[in-house]
Amino acid sequence: MTVRKMTTDDIPEVAQIEKQCFHQPWSAEEILRTYQSVTSLFTVAEEGRKVVGYVGMYLVPDEGYIINVAVSPLFRKKGVATQLIAQILEDAKEEGVQNVSLEVRKSNQEAIRLYEKIGFESVGIRKNFYELPPEDAIIMWKYGI
Ligand SMILES: CC(C)(COP(=O)(O)OP(=O)(O)OC[C@H]1O[C@@H](n2cnc3c(N)ncnc32)[C@H](O)[C@@H]1OP(=O)(O)O)[C@@H](O)C(=O)NCCC(=O)NCCS
Repeated sequence: MTVRKMTTDDIPEVAQIEKQCFHQPWSAEEILRTYQSVTSLFTVAEEGRKVVGYVGMYLVPDEGYIINVAVSPLFRKKGVATQLIAQILEDAKEEGVQNVSLEVRKSNQEAIRLYEKIGFESVGIRKNFYELPPEDAIIMWKYGI
């Protein structure tokens, strides 16, 4: 498996992964707009020539915010997300980022375990942060990446 920076050519496959993973997936246009319009980093994992996972992050001067991480269902539990996040944290560090945050649905135990394993800690809750279905978000931070 290869982990590398996303290019615009990867966006249709990333949009497919979004559809496989979320009730309210980002469209290819939304991904492209975010990729082009804000300070962001996007990393993909490739198996053969197929994109099987991705992670995106917004950057502000010394902080990062993980927008999303998703792995195609057939490629889960093989360490893909772990490698994606390790790579994007390394790239963010090179950009001067020191601390990284994210939000995750309270019921998403797989993702919470993944983030804890990488060193994120829960620091609070945002009440009813999500819609469809409504749910609280757990706010997690990794300090000193
Ligand atoms: C969450 C997700 C990204 C994990 O991807 P993955 O490539 O399967 O994760 P990894 O193989 O790197 O797993 C790393 C750790 O995460 C935890 N984990 C991942 N999947 C898990 C599961 N089904 N059950 C319990 N723990 C799980 C484990 O601690 C695992 O470590 P271990 O294998 O040593 O037990 C993937 O399940 C996914 O795409 N889910 C749908 C999208 C989503 O919910 N994204 C998060 C939005 S905030």
